[in-house]
Amino acid sequence: MTLSEVRSRFLTFYKARGHVEIPSAPIRPDNDPTTLFTSSGMQPLVPYLLGEEHPAGTRLVDAQTCFRGQDIEEVGDNRHTTFFEMLGNWSLGDYFREEQLPWVFEFLTSKEEGLGLDPEKLYVTVFSGDESTGIGADMESVALWQKLFEEKSIEAKFSSIGSEEEGYKKGMQGSRIFAYDAKKNWWSRAGVPNNMPPGEPGGPDSELFYDFGLPHDPSWGAECHPNCDCGRFVEIGNSVFMQFKKEEDGSFSQLPKKNVDFGGGLERLVAATLGDPDVFLIDVFEKARRVLEEKTGKTYGATEEDLRSFRIILDHTRAAFFMLASDIKPSNTEAGYILRRLLRRAIREVDRLGIKDAVLVEIAHGFAELYKDQYPWVADALPLIEEGLSAEERKFRNTLTTGLKEFEKLAAKGDITGENAFILFSSFGFPFELTQELAKERGLTLLETDFKSAMEAHQSQSRAGAAQKFAGGLADHAEQTVRYHTTHHILLKALQMVLGEEVFQRGSNITSERLRIDFSSPGKMSDEQKAEVERIVNDIIYQDLPVTRTVMPREEAEKLGAQMEFGVKYPDTVSVYSVGPAEASAENPRIPEAFSLEFCGGPHVANTSEIHTGGTRFKILKEEAVASGIRRIKAVLV
Ligand code: ALA
Repeated sequence: MTLSEVRSRFLTFYKARGHVEIPSAPIRPDNDPTTLFTSSGMQPLVPYLLGEEHPAGTRLVDAQTCFRGQDIEEVGDNRHTTFFEMLGNWSLGDYFREEQLPWVFEFLTSKEEGLGLDPEKLYVTVFSGDESTGIGADMESVALWQKLFEEKSIEAKFSSIGSEEEGYKKGMQGSRIFAYDAKKNWWSRAGVPNNMPPGEPGGPDSELFYDFGLPHDPSWGAECHPNCDCGRFVEIGNSVFMQFKKEEDGSFSQLPKKNVDFGGGLERLVAATLGDPDVFLIDVFEKARRVLEEKTGKTYGATEEDLRSFRIILDHTRAAFFMLASDIKPSNTEAGYILRRLLRRAIREVDRLGIKDAVLVEIAHGFAELYKDQYPWVADALPLIEEGLSAEERKFRNTLTTGLKEFEKLAAKGDITGENAFILFSSFGFPFELTQELAKERGLTLLETDFKSAMEAHQSQSRAGAAQKFAGGLADHAEQTVRYHTTHHILLKALQMVLGEEVFQRGSNITSERLRIDFSSPGKMSDEQKAEVERIVNDIIYQDLPVTRTVMPREEAEKLGAQMEFGVKYPDTVSVYSVGPAEASAENPRIPEAFSLEFCGGPHVANTSEIHTGGTRFKILKEEAVASGIRRIKAVLV
């Protein structure tokens, strides 16, 4: 079956049983500051699970777009994706176990109304009880499952397993129904009961696994069992009996109304209908797969290594597609950072497969066609998606080319350290995670703490340098002030480009609210000149250029043409900050190709991308005379 067929069968099945379809909530939650993304169908419904009345009633059905960032490293195998759709049916204080389990079984196995899966291939798990909460084993679900399997003439033996580790020892034992502990069969947004904050709803669950019949891979553990990760069993659905709430004192009380929260992984359900565990073989990825095959001349699945690359590209581009459609923009913080990380990982794999031209937009078109009926807003957002994908691809390709060359040089010398990872980041915008992954591929371990301490060392060096700074300058070292400081350097260069090389800095004053620059210039700037200066500054900021500090003899800095402030006396050894190079080159990464070069003690951002966090733009507020031949600009980042 196709993805949309499975989705529509699910929605129809539950609508026929009194459920009202509700639309997918946005992938970026509207009213939940605790989380960046919607990661389960349950998340947008929490108030209703806690007892608030839902306007659509007590029986709901939906397909929810979800993103799970914690699975990003897992992507590459046959079943993990960061983005997925979760099919959900909900009872808000309406029906409970007795209806839920027969319905979900019928949906999975019925040829007419459901998916027609072979019940012989279905295995189920239930909650084995938990001493810390005193909540007992879910024997009611065991009894219901036994009856359901027996009705299909399938013997359904029950085994209490306990922990996952026990599962690898005990194995299948000829059973169909298995009980596991809270780590596996308790559901709340925070995981096991112990981790739940007061007020959080949760409950025991019953998971459904599809047996794809692959041979057990003993590298995971001696015996196979439903929760074994070898790939034979894949979880395709989960019925949560959401009936408890954690109290302030750590105890569990019954919710006023007992709820059912069913979540089914749409892509995995489609894979089950096809009898192949590889979710990347389902129809939604087909066009995208073909684009990659055509561009590379490689066949999907031909080699293990390329297979991983294909899957990462397919998953990450689809996730980015939905994020861009939800108006998330690549940036260096929060959701925008995750989006950027996904895109950069995808582009790196595209590059690894040997594709040298932009390809993400073409891949995204395949998704747009398939999702536009269920989610019309993705079609509306297509221009935005295209723009986001191509801008990031263009930018990161440049970064990648230069950064990879540098990385290889360092790797050849066996010199992959936290310090060098920081230099790769600050000089080339080469992401730390990427250096870490590449080091990992070569059997090297690079700790984030090493990278962070190199970064901190750089920052404190910068601050110490600032102590011997020249006149005017920074009011403080707050992050925003530092952003303004680097912007100030870029602005000076932009003024020289527009008004002439003879423009000199005559004073500066920078706070966390705005920057001010005094400069020598004969007359008032025209509106066109101001607009051009703004354009150049924004262009440079958005090029994500490295900002580098170099300590050198004053004479050398003068020879390089580094900007000085008029009338200031500098020591013999000076610190020089460069923004750029405008086009980074591995051979000559820093000076003299820098866009701007100034005598300065810092501190500065490590990369201009830190300035445009969240879509910030540079704007001139005022341009005025302060003395004869000296003009003043006040400008802000908005
Ligand atoms: N909320 C449950 C899950 O995400 C259905 O597994």
